[in-house]
Amino acid sequence: MIVPIVAIVLAVATLVSGKWIVPGARWRDTNGNIFNAHTGGLCVDQDSGRFYWFGEHKAEGQVEGGGISVYSSDDLATWTSHGLALKPVKGHEWISPDSVIQRPKVIYSKETKKYHMWWHADDSKYSKLLQGLATADNIAGPYTFQSATSPLGNWSQDFGAFTDYKTGHSYALYSNGDRVEGRDVYVSKFNSNLTAVEEVTFRFNKYDFEAPTILQTEKSYFALMSHKTGYRPNNVVAMRADKLEGPWSQPFFVSPAYTRTFSTQSGFSWRIEGTKKTTHLYMGDQWDMRSLWESRNVWLPIEINERDGSLKVVWHDIYDLDVKTGEWSPIKGKTYTSKRGKLAGDAFLQEATFGSHNVIATGIYGNQSTITFEVDGQGEDQWISFYHQNIDDMGYGDQPMGQPDRINGTWQLRRISSVVVNGDTDNVHTLYQKDTHKGIILSTPLLLPLKRGRNTITIGGLYNGVDYKGADLDRIVVYLPEAR
Ligand code: GLA
Repeated sequence: MIVPIVAIVLAVATLVSGKWIVPGARWRDTNGNIFNAHTGGLCVDQDSGRFYWFGEHKAEGQVEGGGISVYSSDDLATWTSHGLALKPVKGHEWISPDSVIQRPKVIYSKETKKYHMWWHADDSKYSKLLQGLATADNIAGPYTFQSATSPLGNWSQDFGAFTDYKTGHSYALYSNGDRVEGRDVYVSKFNSNLTAVEEVTFRFNKYDFEAPTILQTEKSYFALMSHKTGYRPNNVVAMRADKLEGPWSQPFFVSPAYTRTFSTQSGFSWRIEGTKKTTHLYMGDQWDMRSLWESRNVWLPIEINERDGSLKVVWHDIYDLDVKTGEWSPIKGKTYTSKRGKLAGDAFLQEATFGSHNVIATGIYGNQSTITFEVDGQGEDQWISFYHQNIDDMGYGDQPMGQPDRINGTWQLRRISSVVVNGDTDNVHTLYQKDTHKGIILSTPLLLPLKRGRNTITIGGLYNGVDYKGADLDRIVVYLPEAR
């Protein structure tokens, strides 16, 4: 009997029990709104066991003061919004719309029987460097402001929190600012009712890192932190120790050098102790400096080797995660390299040792200089990942020279390509392509409506009356629809 290949593949897809996580995509909540919660952290509801994610809410056109939003989920993939857990209050000293309310983390206190939200509290100039505390009886809030304090008299900037699953103790993690007297990262123990930091457990002296998170395995603690490049991504590092008190290892990169941790900054991590497997997730921020509210969440599985103490954040365009069993597996797609694409206008294939078949498509520009792929579709919305190189550090057009890898360099953080499906120019899809190091190829996913059978996918530069450059394109990968 001849069974159509499509039928076999779909049958396999339905066996998968988890939910798909698509790092760097434009995530939407169950109401279809943008998932707007950055530098966040998870907390589990004591009653329902449901996950709650708290993060900075970035209002369009506004940098600070959006408050803290909260979403809940049973599978870490489908998110229901519960609005703002901490609302900015006009005229308030610490939670006004002008205040810095960053990097919130929520921990449940068995003693107070309340949820305690901690964050980096500051004025808009980052001159106070305090830790904010607000509490609530219910996990989703609303949270009531309690205090903004200096931990043990020290400064506190980027904030993280960690609870040791063996001892139950919770710790505050914080960098103590950029001044010469600061530039350390602290791991400090909270008191038993989680109302203050009571002792310093370890100080990463003069490491000058930020955005700290700690994850714990049977044997080890790994502290992940980023270098200090503001909203621009860099190569995140990890350090390993047997005990929180140290000694800690030398820092090492958690992802391939020059990928800038897949254009992300660290901030949170999570241990899923499933029925079959323990899985750790890296939960980073892919900032968009030009429009913070459009920044993306990048959550990726972590691979740990206890023998040599190494840890890797591994990129997958899409992976399937089962939070009950702890198992995850990458989703496979069909690759179409640019060599197979049809080039138009000034777009051309340029020799590139790092590209597929030794070439990469470049000169993609406006709506005339394009590359078109013919791909198979299933008649549904399907994820397509676009693998690009964007070396805007070279600067172009009326844009300032970028030079991110030079002292005092500025940086073009993204290019925008327009993606047209089956010639439907009334519905142009916008693809943000983050800046990459030269010779590094990274990908960004888009959910696109494909017909059953043959489709065309045309990639040009952003075109809105003015032509813009799209990034260089190496390949696209088309994924089958997620089984529901
Ligand atoms: C870094 C910090 C963020 C934020 C920005 C502001 O990225 O980690 O929390 O303060 O700088 O530039």
